Amino acid sequence: MTPQDYDYLCKLLKERSGLMLAADKQYLVESRLLPVARKAGCDTLEALIARLKGPGSEPLKVEVTEAMTINESFFFRDKIPYDRFRDTIIPDMAQKRAAQKRLRVWSAACSTGQEPYSLAMMLDGFSTLSGWQFDIIATDISNDVLDKARSGCYSQFEVQRGLPISMLMQHFEQVGDQWRLSAKIRRMVSFRQLNLLSDFSSLGQFDAIFCRNVLIYFDQPTKVDVLTRVRQRLAPDGYFVLGAAETVVGVSDLFSPIPDKRGLYSPTTKREAAPKLALAGAGGQRVA
Ligand SMILES: C[S@@+](CC[C@H](N)C(=O)[O-])C[C@H]1O[C@@H](n2cnc3c(N)ncnc32)[C@H](O)[C@@H]1O
Repeated sequence: MTPQDYDYLCKLLKERSGLMLAADKQYLVESRLLPVARKAGCDTLEALIARLKGPGSEPLKVEVTEAMTINESFFFRDKIPYDRFRDTIIPDMAQKRAAQKRLRVWSAACSTGQEPYSLAMMLDGFSTLSGWQFDIIATDISNDVLDKARSGCYSQFEVQRGLPISMLMQHFEQVGDQWRLSAKIRRMVSFRQLNLLSDFSSLGQFDAIFCRNVLIYFDQPTKVDVLTRVRQRLAPDGYFVLGAAETVVGVSDLFSPIPDKRGLYSPTTKREAAPKLALAGAGGQRVA
């Protein structure tokens, strides 16, 4: 691939998904995009890029963007955010929303569904909340991962990563070599295709937002833009959760870390404050 072609792809991906691709990731691009090229009837990546630059290439651009997303996820990933959900967020919201008996949670960048389903299984474990309405909205840019998420089917390997055996037994049934989540848990989650770079004001307001392991791929201005708009979707008394490798650096006027609750943030009340939230790494972490 020529440097010009590589530059073209980097710009395309940054513009479409926010993904920042480092200069030395040609091998990654090749391994991800060669199957897309073949499917499109192109023998080489050069031919694929020429096609991308031509008319009527929108569906191919979508495919290329999706193929480059990093979809790593597993049940109860990093454990601590889920402990916070069970021990802090749910009990607190059970009091604050006692009148409405309704809880709205957003899993932004949900990948193949393990994150929102882990939240759903936890909520289902609260017998004190029976009769409540739970809206778990799970979004991702990639239709491929959403298709898998909606199916609720996971391999033996996937259920062995992070999922307690008791939950496997309680909520899954074995279908061939796959494990399928119960209809009850699947019904608790609504999946929608959504690009975090686009307007998501129509999603409404949430009591808790999980936005984990996606902002790390964005540059600083993109992080600030997304976080500013995510903040607008969070109830003033709600909770915000980042990934384990993500943290607030410096002064944040949008979200404040909750003392003694690592990884958990509350929205600050000064709405007019300038967004100075920064995640680890000044210029954004490029794909490693
Ligand atoms: C590493 S996964 C994180 C999954 C889950 N949150 C977790 O922590 O296990 C990152 C996800 O972000 C999605 N993603 C990347 N860019 C996005 C964008 N601009 N808008 C929405 N989702 C995006 C990818 O498709 C991928 O599924």
